[in-house]
Amino acid sequence: MKPKFNRFFRKSILELNPYKSAREEYKNEGREMILLDANENPFQSSFNRYPDPMQVDLKSKIATWKNVRSEQVYLSNGSDEFISQIIIAFCEPGEDHIMIVPPTFGMYKVSALTYGVQVKEIPLILNFQLDTNAILQAANEKSKIIFIPTPNNPTANSFDAAEIEIIIKNFSGLVVLDEAYIEFTDNPSFIEMLEKYSNLIVCQTFSKAQGMAGARLGMAFAHPELINYINRIKAPYNLNSLTINAAINRLNEQDQVQNQVDFMIKERKRIISDLNQINFIKTIYPSDANFIMVLVDNSSLRYQQLLDHNIVVRNSSKNFGCKNTLRISLGLKKENDALIKALYNIENQ
Ligand SMILES: Cc1ncc(COP(=O)(O)O)c(C=O)c1O
Repeated sequence: MKPKFNRFFRKSILELNPYKSAREEYKNEGREMILLDANENPFQSSFNRYPDPMQVDLKSKIATWKNVRSEQVYLSNGSDEFISQIIIAFCEPGEDHIMIVPPTFGMYKVSALTYGVQVKEIPLILNFQLDTNAILQAANEKSKIIFIPTPNNPTANSFDAAEIEIIIKNFSGLVVLDEAYIEFTDNPSFIEMLEKYSNLIVCQTFSKAQGMAGARLGMAFAHPELINYINRIKAPYNLNSLTINAAINRLNEQDQVQNQVDFMIKERKRIISDLNQINFIKTIYPSDANFIMVLVDNSSLRYQQLLDHNIVVRNSSKNFGCKNTLRISLGLKKENDALIKALYNIENQ
């Protein structure tokens, strides 16, 4: 049976006449055209022309890489942009809400509140896992989106896949699985489930394992009808030419990316065993990501002491249930060595 999407869509967005950029109004079919349609400067430089608004070439390469169809791909100026776009696309301000599962990535709440959309928070339970029953009980017809980052930030663990699937099956809104750190886990991506669940959106990013945080490129994967609908509110040229070209090049460097990921996973194991030797670190939480969250005796003190050793970590204490925690990213070998040395120094000072 064909999935029905109308219940997700906002009337005002269905009714608007989406902006069409100059380059979308004709098909060039490989011919050399004289471009007098977009008020550009005709003198050639690397950037005198607007980028491809629909990023056809990059999307097709990403689709092949992820084993989906191009129509299932949406590209954004980082996942951050996608998060705000889907809140605008699916939530009626002042009426609908999103659901989040704290401690969680901060941008879901900030984006929602920015657009006048309320936020329902269902905290994680033991071992930072999802409270599936509480989520489903708290959800109602105004719950338009639930954001589930797995592996989670700041806690670094993955959520139980069976629990996620129960939520996807029973949640009446859209389930956004944010797989920003998917490359660092052995768990399969939920992209594989897209054909099975039409209310599922998976997002990934070039900012973490792909090593392109500065270029700003997020990827979202969903049913083509959802992607089409989100395209209605897309900024015409949301990806710039530099980013598009850099990403195409990066796709040809996946051996290098894999080596870097393998290195970080190995370092994760080594650093965890070194952190275990530090007495003021009380708990090291399991990590499926390129960072580790630890519980310390006094996070403000230890954060400041690390700063005094020229090392910046994240004081994650303000997150729900994360009092006295620090979130530590994995660095280069010499940077990780410096971290461990600093922690020993601090312990013995
Ligand atoms: C779970 C999660 N999602 C999304 C993002 C943002 O990704 P991007 O850099 O693509 O905007 C982050 C960044 O830290 C993150 O931790």
